[in-house]
Amino acid sequence: MLLDLLMKARSYRNFDPAVRYTDEDIKALINLCRFAPSSVNRQPIRFAYATKKEDCDRIFPYLGWAAKIKENKPPFPGNEPTAYILMCYDTNLTPNSPDADVGIYAQTIVLGAMEKGIGACMLGSIDKPALAELFTLPENIKPRLVIALGAPNEKIVLTEAKDGQTDYYRDKENTHYVPKLPLNEILLPGIK
Ligand SMILES: Cc1cc2nc3c(=O)[nH]c(=O)nc-3n(C[C@H](O)[C@H](O)[C@H](O)COP(=O)(O)O)c2cc1C
Repeated sequence: MLLDLLMKARSYRNFDPAVRYTDEDIKALINLCRFAPSSVNRQPIRFAYATKKEDCDRIFPYLGWAAKIKENKPPFPGNEPTAYILMCYDTNLTPNSPDADVGIYAQTIVLGAMEKGIGACMLGSIDKPALAELFTLPENIKPRLVIALGAPNEKIVLTEAKDGQTDYYRDKENTHYVPKLPLNEILLPGIK
């Protein structure tokens, strides 16, 4: 069921280093986006990816993780992602970042990954110029979002947000808690 998949598809930030993926595994996830909606069907998103450990090691320094966690930030050493997808947009097709398309495509990848047991974390906090240089992107291709991938290696618990407090947090055992707002707090009044 979609609800089960959505509840499992948390933002994972610690991964099992022993589990690696092939280029075909990652391309199969990118392929899902071909069937996603896109504003005026322009399809301006382009993808690069990395699966080799040495390439993943070069991407890692350009990513910002878990801004709300101040100490013992994940991923812990040795638990870094084992693959990445870099989502970009083509400025020849759209001058500004097509954020709705980026979000829809990213969630398509995250759900497709979780369906196969692959954990993911979207990362908007990225060093875009450094990634553009690392991937030798042409001038018209702009980095927008990274999706980190790997076999989940941490416990994440969904909780109900109280008093609008939505900051995620970790306990001493490093279980990660993600408060979600209850339905009655996200519903607006109907037309009067
Ligand atoms: C557009 C977007 C950008 C994000 N950027 C980052 C990021 O730079 N670093 C990070 O650790 N998590 C990032 N996240 C993950 C969020 O922190 C995460 O979705 C949120 O804490 C809720 O957790 P959940 O995904 O498990 O529901 C991002 C999520 C989204 C949707």
